[in-house]
Amino acid sequence: MEAPSASPDRGAWGTRLGFILAAVGSAVGLGNMWRFSYVAAEGGGAAFVLLYLVFVALIGLPVMTSELVVGRMTQVSPVKAVRQLGGSRWAPLGWLFVFCGFGILSYYSVIAGWTMRFAFDALRGAIPQDTATYFNEVGTNMPAVITHVLFMAITVIIVLRGVKKGLERTALILMPMLFVLLVGLAIWATTLSGGGAGYAYYLKPRLSELLDTAIITDAAGQAFFSLSLGMGALMTYASYLKNKTNLGREAVTIAATDFGVAFIAGLVVFPIIFHFGLGEAIGLGGVLNTDNTVGTLFITIPPALQSLGSGGNIIVAAFFIMLFFAALTSAISLLEVVVAAIIDSWQWPRARAAVTFGILITLAGIPSAYNLNILTFADKLVGTFLLMVGGLCTAILVGYRALPQVEQELSIGMENANLRRVWSTMVKFVVPPVLFVVLFFAVKPLWVAFKALIGG
Ligand code: PFF
Repeated sequence: MEAPSASPDRGAWGTRLGFILAAVGSAVGLGNMWRFSYVAAEGGGAAFVLLYLVFVALIGLPVMTSELVVGRMTQVSPVKAVRQLGGSRWAPLGWLFVFCGFGILSYYSVIAGWTMRFAFDALRGAIPQDTATYFNEVGTNMPAVITHVLFMAITVIIVLRGVKKGLERTALILMPMLFVLLVGLAIWATTLSGGGAGYAYYLKPRLSELLDTAIITDAAGQAFFSLSLGMGALMTYASYLKNKTNLGREAVTIAATDFGVAFIAGLVVFPIIFHFGLGEAIGLGGVLNTDNTVGTLFITIPPALQSLGSGGNIIVAAFFIMLFFAALTSAISLLEVVVAAIIDSWQWPRARAAVTFGILITLAGIPSAYNLNILTFADKLVGTFLLMVGGLCTAILVGYRALPQVEQELSIGMENANLRRVWSTMVKFVVPPVLFVVLFFAVKPLWVAFKALIGG
C-alpha cells in the first residue's frame, strides 16, 4: 500500500491482490495462533470452536462487509467516515476506534515481543525443556519490556515510511510460508501418540458448554479480534481502495483465510498439549492459571518441535519468525488507524503522528509487560468488549442511519440483489440484537476480572 494519508494525495492500492494481502495481513496475526489457542483451551475446546465459527459467519461477515463498503464509499479515515454517515453525534465512535487501536497495540506489542525473544533464543539453542518456567522469565518484567520496545520501534518505522512494497512483498512471501509450515506441523502432529485426546478436546463439543455464556462471549469477542473488526481497521484499508470489486466476496476471502489459519493452528497445538502432558502447565487440568494459559502457544510449541531432534530448534525459530511477521502486519494496521485519524483530524504530518503515538503506545504497554494480569485484562476490555461495542455501533449506524447509501455502494461489484438483502437483513436485525445480548453477558465477567485485578 502506498503511504496512506488523509491529505488529497492519500495513497491507493495498486492491485486487488495488494489490498487483499494487506487485509489478510491485518486479520491473520497473533489472534489466530496465540489468542485462538489459549481462548479455545479455556473455552472447552470444541464448543468454543463451533460457536466461534457461527459468530464469524453470522456477525463477522456482515460487519466486515459494512466496514469495507463504508471505507470505499467515503475514502476518508474512520473518524471522518462515521461523521459523514451519521453526523457529528457519531464522532465519538470514530474516537472509540482510535482508542481501541491504541489500547490493543499497547499489549499486542508485548506478545509480539515474545515471538522475537523465542525466535532469537531458539536460534541460539537457548530454550530449555521447562518452557513454562522459561516463559515466566522472558515473558514478563525487563526482558519483556525490551522486546516490546523493539517491536514497537520496528512497527513505527514501517508505518512512518508508508507500508508499501517492502512490507507487501515480505508479506507475500512470508504469509504463504507460514501457511505451509502450519500445514506441515498439523500433519506431523497426527503422528503424536496420545494426540487423539487432543483432537477430541478440540473437535468434539460437549453440549452443555455450547450454552455456557462465558464461552459464548469469548467466541464472539475472538471473532472480532481475529477478523480485525470493530475498530475501523478494515474501513481504513478499504478507504485506499479505488477499484470497484465485489466487497462481499472480499469479506468472505478474508474471513475464510483467517478462520483457516486459526483452525489449523488448533490442529497443531491440541495434540501437542495432550501428547506432552502440558495440560497441567497451561491450566487445562484444574483451576485456570491465567499467567500460564496466556502463554499456551509459547509453552507448547518449543518442546514439541525440539523433540524432532537436531533440526528442531531451527523449526522453532522459523515458527516464531513467521509469527513475528504475522504480528507485524497486524500491528501496522492497528497503528494505521490511530495515525490516519490524527493526520486527518489534527493535520499532523505522518511522521510526527507515527512517532508521537508510537512512543505513547509503547509507554502504555509497559504495565502489561510487567504484569500478565494487566495484559489479559486489557485484552478482555479493549480486545474483546470494546471491539464488540464498536461493531454494534457500526451496525446500527450502517443499518439504521445510512442503509440506502451503503447498499448502493455495495451494489457496485455485487450485482446479486438477494445477497445484498441477506446482508442488510443481518446488519439490521441479527447483528445488533445478538451483540446486545452478548455484551450484556460480557459485563459481569469483565467486572469480576477488574475487581480481581485491583484487588490482587
Ligand atoms: N486481527 C489481528 C490478529 O488476529 O492478531 C489483531 C487485530 C488487528 C485486531 C487489527 C484488531 C485490528 F483492528
